[in-house]
Amino acid sequence: MIVLKDKNALVTGSSRGIGQQIVEGLAKLGCNVIVHGRTKESCTTTLQLLQKYPVKKYCVYGVLSDENQVNDLIKQVQNLNIRIDILYNNAAIMTPYQQDYWKHSWEDWMMSMKVNVFAMYSLCSSFIPPMIENGFGRIINLTSSIKDQPELAPYGASKWAVNKLTEDIAIKLVGTGVRINTLDPGWLRTDLGGEFAEHPVEAVLPGALAPALIDDNGPNGDFFSAINHHLDL
Ligand SMILES: NC(=O)c1ccc[n+]([C@@H]2O[C@H](COP(=O)([O-])OP(=O)(O)OC[C@H]3O[C@@H](n4cnc5c(N)ncnc54)[C@H](OP(=O)(O)O)[C@@H]3O)[C@@H](O)[C@H]2O)c1
Repeated sequence: MIVLKDKNALVTGSSRGIGQQIVEGLAKLGCNVIVHGRTKESCTTTLQLLQKYPVKKYCVYGVLSDENQVNDLIKQVQNLNIRIDILYNNAAIMTPYQQDYWKHSWEDWMMSMKVNVFAMYSLCSSFIPPMIENGFGRIINLTSSIKDQPELAPYGASKWAVNKLTEDIAIKLVGTGVRINTLDPGWLRTDLGGEFAEHPVEAVLPGALAPALIDDNGPNGDFFSAINHHLDL
């Protein structure tokens, strides 16, 4: 297990839900964190929550369905002039549940792909090359175990694309100190997971930190399950 103290992590969608748990878990281990939400204001609660940890905290913002805003978000991170060691591509949207699963609109398909996949690709393409140069990096792409639910087809298919993208990038990272993996957080009570989810959001820790803590020759292109991962911190 590696030491995260003084490393820098960008966690998209950390203004609430699972991302908020992840930044707090990282901060507890001494990792500096970059909080992200759609707006600057939406990061406020998380930044307050992080006040008790003696780490550096930053806030960046942008709507991930908008290419210009994704590029601007990347600029905001680059302008911090810090090395990005860890990237959690956590933010995602789930399109509405369609009882009639033949009724998903093209707009819903596009939104899912833009936020959940295209933005992830842009963030990977901006931050992985410098990680390779630095000889260190951890990328964790949030996926889901959703299956057999055509009522949520755009969301399910976008997560399948996340898995495929992760596996394909992983091949290019063999022999580098950079590792990319997927993480299924489990079904958790968040705005996205809903009130009837199996677990409270806090249950995502400490398992969600496992793929950030792996050694340089650790798993690459693999699947992690936060709920089922035993971790002694
Ligand atoms: N909860 C579950 O049961 C569950 C199960 C499997 C997988 N997952 C995955 O876990 C990850 C986190 O889910 P969650 O349950 O924590 O979701 P959530 O509670 O809905 O939180 C979503 C986060 O993403 C940000 N976000 C939403 N739409 C965005 C957009 N268009 N552009 C930029 N940022 C946006 C939100 O920022 P604002 O606060 O500014 O809106 C917020 O920080 C997702 O990848 C999800 O697919 C969750």
